[in-house]
Amino acid sequence: MGRRAQEIIERAYEEGRKHLLEPEAKTICAEYGIPVPKFKVASEPKEAVEFAEEIGYPVVLKVVSPDVIHKSDVGGVLLNVMDADGVREGFKRVLDTVKGHVPNARIIGVLVEEMAPKGIAEVIVGAIKDPQFGQTLMFGLGGVFVEVLKDVTFRIAPIDEREAKEMIKEIKAYPILTGYRGQPPADVDAIARILVSASELVMENPQVKEMDLNPIIVYEKGAKTVDARIILE
Ligand SMILES: Nc1ncnc2c1ncn2[C@@H]1O[C@H](COP(=O)(O)OP(=O)(O)OP(=O)(O)O)[C@@H](O)[C@H]1O
Ligand SMILES: [Mg+2]
Repeated sequence: MGRRAQEIIERAYEEGRKHLLEPEAKTICAEYGIPVPKFKVASEPKEAVEFAEEIGYPVVLKVVSPDVIHKSDVGGVLLNVMDADGVREGFKRVLDTVKGHVPNARIIGVLVEEMAPKGIAEVIVGAIKDPQFGQTLMFGLGGVFVEVLKDVTFRIAPIDEREAKEMIKEIKAYPILTGYRGQPPADVDAIARILVSASELVMENPQVKEMDLNPIIVYEKGAKTVDARIILE
């Protein structure tokens, strides 16, 4: 059960935070078996280089700050960093750019993360706590499919693997996942497992008001959640 998750949630409340930091959200995801890239939080450039060498290049650098919710809007995300020099310079560049946009941002550190390769598709798993129905799960394909076409589907939690598979098949864009134009099919079972894990996560941690795993990069085998947001009530 989510012991680590509850510790993280309690600490956030104690510190007066309702938005979990990305590494906190990803630690909770990992505890529930939701695959996330390898990551560590560095507090200075030298440490960031050490972590990058451990993780292996290329890496991603992201600002970790309770005052930054949309990291890329303020220059807080650097993708595809290839070597130690890139990490050293990138560390400073990310913090300088963020401070330029949000002068008083409290900086916890810089997330050094495995760069996930391009996949077959990007999907979104979301959860919201509906005042009437309780924890509700959402599934859709990333980008234009969710934002413009609203091609999404919902279920009241908890869900099992059979219901998760139903959700996946329900969206109009489903054929994109099964292999089109000679593309290999995406690992739909891996997506279903993430949906079931997300269901367990929100059921066991009722303080979670909103969760957004977006994007989840899906491969022929496996999937990886490269951004995770959790908001508490
Ligand atoms: N570890 C990673 N591997 C590969 N791509 C990544 C990784 N982390 C982030 N990205 C890509 O960079 C984008 C921006 O990163 P992230 O989502 O963490 O920041 P954000 O501030 O939420 O940005 P946005 O609001 O644009 O989603 C992601 O949507 C994803 O496409
Ligand atoms: Mg994001």
